Amino acid sequence: MNKTITLETARPIFVQFDLKGAIKTISPFGSGHIHDTYRLTNEVNGFPDYILQRINHNIFKNIPGLTENMRLVTAHLKKRLAEIPGSDPEKEVLQMVPMKNGQYVFQDADGNHWRIFHFLKDTRSYDLVTTEQQAFEGGKAFGKFQRLLADMDATRLQEPIPDFHNLESRMNLFHKAIEANPKDRVKLVAPEIEFVESRAEQMNRILKLGRAGKLPLRITHNDTKFNNVLLDQNDRGQCVIDLDTVMPGYVAYDFGDAVRTIVNTASEDEKDLEKIQVNMALLKSFAEGFLSETAGFLNRDEVDSLAMGVLLLPFIMGLRFLTDYIGGDTYYKIHFPEHNIQRARAQFRLVEKLEEQYPEIQRIITNCI
Ligand SMILES: Nc1ncnc2c1ncn2[C@@H]1O[C@H](COP(=O)(O)OP(=O)(O)O)[C@@H](O)[C@H]1O
Ligand SMILES: [Mg+2]
Repeated sequence: MNKTITLETARPIFVQFDLKGAIKTISPFGSGHIHDTYRLTNEVNGFPDYILQRINHNIFKNIPGLTENMRLVTAHLKKRLAEIPGSDPEKEVLQMVPMKNGQYVFQDADGNHWRIFHFLKDTRSYDLVTTEQQAFEGGKAFGKFQRLLADMDATRLQEPIPDFHNLESRMNLFHKAIEANPKDRVKLVAPEIEFVESRAEQMNRILKLGRAGKLPLRITHNDTKFNNVLLDQNDRGQCVIDLDTVMPGYVAYDFGDAVRTIVNTASEDEKDLEKIQVNMALLKSFAEGFLSETAGFLNRDEVDSLAMGVLLLPFIMGLRFLTDYIGGDTYYKIHFPEHNIQRARAQFRLVEKLEEQYPEIQRIITNCI
């Protein structure tokens, strides 16, 4: 939640940073769910506006790690873009503003962590994809992000959230919750447990292919929602933002999570499962955008893994909701007692719908190559 903040209360924070010009106004900005985001406007003509963010340190425990990741990744993106004629690294890469002491995050007396970015002007982000053109641009933006980072050694990055998409560790947590059964809910979710167990082995294929050396460990974004792409005034992808979860991963994770959030015709916690359908036209446009940037360097196994990722990501999301329901709702905020199980059921229905379309999804991907 954005707390009330005024120029006076924010001044001791932003004076720590190496800002140009003079800050005129501060106001809450955007519709992100994780951090508190504010826009700072500049009084002096020709100097940039800024984005001030209070980092959510309940979710991100390793702020030095993610900041270092962000520094390395944005430096690499800038270097690569500078080599591409017609590109503008200032506009196309998220730019952190250093503090006067050379660091990037200011910790105030209350233990809050603050950082500042250059405000990317004349851009907008949408929470929901509604057109094929948007899906294409989202795919292209995340695909280009992959392409520009393809030559960067992923092992240079830390894991700010360890085992984020690791199905085995998610399954371990699931089994532990079942064993502990703190709210005696296990008996209420037998079909969902069965749903998970019957697919766990097959869903583990990406991890196995990775371990077998068939899928290279790349740098993945891991939060490939559409509102993490800033679009320019012509609705073309301009800059991928929200780089907190950037870490080593498999390309299918980014592809699968984007598809999960784009193609569902209902909301993530839809109660009426009949409303959950897959918008294949959006899936196709996203895939076309993504592969227009990545087809040239992904290996064959990676291309094959993309469709697996489309099943895996909603499966993992459903598994996390189910685990939280069994464990007594300690992680996700709930608005009513059955909220987490309703969310889990909605994700599992999405998995089923995507399974029905699996051959078609594979065909779409192959046609993009
Ligand atoms: N550098 C920037 N320039 C312009 N808008 C931005 C910038 N960074 C973030 N935003 C806006 O703020 C919103 C939230 O920021 P984000 O970093 O995605 O935080 P969260 O993790 O809370 O989603 C974005 O969806 C976007 O609309
Ligand atoms: Mg965001």
